Amino acid sequence: MKLFENHNLKSYNTFGMEVFARQFVELETAEETSAAVAEYLQQWPYYILGGGSNTLFTNDFDGTIVHPAFHGVERMEENSDNVLLRVAAGEPWENLIQYCIKHEYYGLENLTAIPGLVGSAPVQNIGAYGVEVKDTVYKVQGYILSTRNPFELSNADCLFGYRNSIFKQTLKNDCIITYVWFQLSKKKHFTLSYQGLAKALEERELPLTLHCVSDCVRKIREAKLPDPKIVGNGGSFFKNPVISVEKYRDLLTQYPDLVAYDAPDGCKKLSAGQLIEKSGWKGRRVGKAGTWKNQALVLVNYGGATPKEVLGVAETIIKDVKTLFDITLEMEINRI
Ligand code: EPU
Repeated sequence: MKLFENHNLKSYNTFGMEVFARQFVELETAEETSAAVAEYLQQWPYYILGGGSNTLFTNDFDGTIVHPAFHGVERMEENSDNVLLRVAAGEPWENLIQYCIKHEYYGLENLTAIPGLVGSAPVQNIGAYGVEVKDTVYKVQGYILSTRNPFELSNADCLFGYRNSIFKQTLKNDCIITYVWFQLSKKKHFTLSYQGLAKALEERELPLTLHCVSDCVRKIREAKLPDPKIVGNGGSFFKNPVISVEKYRDLLTQYPDLVAYDAPDGCKKLSAGQLIEKSGWKGRRVGKAGTWKNQALVLVNYGGATPKEVLGVAETIIKDVKTLFDITLEMEINRI
């Protein structure tokens, strides 16, 4: 493992916040996790940081950041229908996508071009274009910090929900994920329920292949979402709010074009982006922070924004959406 003192986190968070960590531990193998916990996680507060694509640092971090930096995709089992992959937490998510395209494994292609590392994917159950990572996670392995024991959780044990899992609940900041196992299909099958994706594929008039679907997803993302390498951002800043069907019907009388999807228990999930746009916030800028011109759900650092500026925009958006729709948006991003 590598140890750094007073470490600049600017290149470890896609929002591009210039903040410093008192101590930074980079894990080079999964096996050294327990030694790192014993040696470095006893004294100060700590935070486990993957690719930093869903984290907004609001201040310097007066403690220890642990960053899994070990890689590897291994084929553990396979039959004629499925394959079981064990992927190291520090593997960039996009490397896994490319591996699957190369070997013709189906199931993750709609999650193309999501920034971040594999170990973070189950934490907020990343999802896009009709697919969530929970659909293919077989099990998750790691290390529990409070008990200093290894753990292994099956898909059901992970308690996955919309942008949610046990890792955001009872195991929040109490575990280091070392490996995620995925069960993927070797038989051609695609999820094309997201209308924009089906339409874009149809327009291309190309044969339906993994490469083609993945490429289409990338183009859709590029058109809507800012590239964090160019414009600092953390993807969707808020969750899409879930409301009762009665409340949805009420809102429809005033806003007939409100987008809604079915949610569990007969509820409706609205598009936070649309609510934010209707509140006048799409592409708006306050100082060096604001929202993205093509997707109001994404807050951006236009260059040199402070955490305070970003949070100021977020809080004003919450207030304005509440005033207009009587809905309280919940932040999706982790604030540290
Ligand atoms: N919309 C607007 N204005 C906006 C943004 C969206 O009217 O500024 C409308 C769109 O026209 C569309 C609807 O809202 O009818 C939904 O928009 P979109 O398809 O872009 O998806 P989303 O619900 O805003 C979610 C995820 C994204 C994921 C997309 C595609 C959450 C919090 N976000 O966004 O995930 O890529 O669906 O599946 O669930 C992320 O988590 O970081 C992320 C980017």
